[in-house]
Amino acid sequence: GGQDGVRHFLHIDDYDNKTIMKILERAREVKAKLKSGDKSFKPFAGKTMAMIFTKPSMRTRVSFETGFHLLGGHAIYLGPDDIQLGKREETRDIARVLSGYNDVVMARLFAHKDLLDLAKYGSVPVINGLTDYNHPCQIMADALTIIEHKGYIDNVKVVYVGDGNNVVHSWLRFAAVVPIHFVCACPRGFEPDAATVELVRSKGAKIDIVNDPMEAVKGADVVYSDVWASMGQKEEAALRMQRFQGFQVNEKMMEQAGPDAFFMHCLPAERGVEVTDGVIEAPNSIVFPQAENRMHAQNAVMLHVVGE
Ligand code: CP
Ligand code: NVA
Repeated sequence: GGQDGVRHFLHIDDYDNKTIMKILERAREVKAKLKSGDKSFKPFAGKTMAMIFTKPSMRTRVSFETGFHLLGGHAIYLGPDDIQLGKREETRDIARVLSGYNDVVMARLFAHKDLLDLAKYGSVPVINGLTDYNHPCQIMADALTIIEHKGYIDNVKVVYVGDGNNVVHSWLRFAAVVPIHFVCACPRGFEPDAATVELVRSKGAKIDIVNDPMEAVKGADVVYSDVWASMGQKEEAALRMQRFQGFQVNEKMMEQAGPDAFFMHCLPAERGVEVTDGVIEAPNSIVFPQAENRMHAQNAVMLHVVGE
């Protein structure tokens, strides 16, 4: 929840276990309805959503826009050159203006503070479509995908191999709410935010931050990878390439994880860098169902924040 009882979706652990599991259950129901060809469910009829992007996107843009449309609403894409958040206009002004037109605001931004300001100054729900700090809709889709492939999420061991980035921060916060075992194996100096690690530990999350990926992946239900240089860090790519040697998810690492381990990646992937082509194309790779589930997980998140 946010100010004046407005429900936002900014961090997974803003909600309790019951609510997160309810959203995931709703995602399965609405997905089944859409897959059956039933086009009668239009809870967003007459509603509009503004989508602010200051970074590139394929999945986030297309899944939100398509999902909101399929459920009867109209979504408006605002690219980096359109409203020029923080440059042409201050975030607190944008928040109040868009609140006058739209029922929901979704934003993909650099600074997390800007997302918090949209929520603080606006009067409609704000959904986090990724910031430099976190990516909660991604991890909701990931959890939905794990539930579909394993049948459950509790006590699943997810081993993330790579940079302690925005995706990791959302996994950590997910682990504060849902009883999974989350392991982040990263090079020294690329650990996730220490304050977040401390926060989720204080909430009882079962997490490990380690530096040996080959040891970490043993017994993993899921091995998870993401790019070594995130959006906004591409000029560090060469340096990171050196520092991340040994952190590529390849056939040898998947063999160490065991025959039942699934491979996941939020995409976009740089094949041959953080993951091999062979691992992405292997039968236990579930990266494409995972990408598709962005739409279904987010449909349920949108239904939750608008109170449908
Ligand atoms: N995984 C993800 O958020 O992809 P996009 O950057 O293409 O939206
Ligand atoms: N960590 C990546 C995720 C992309 C979906 C980035 O921020 O670029």
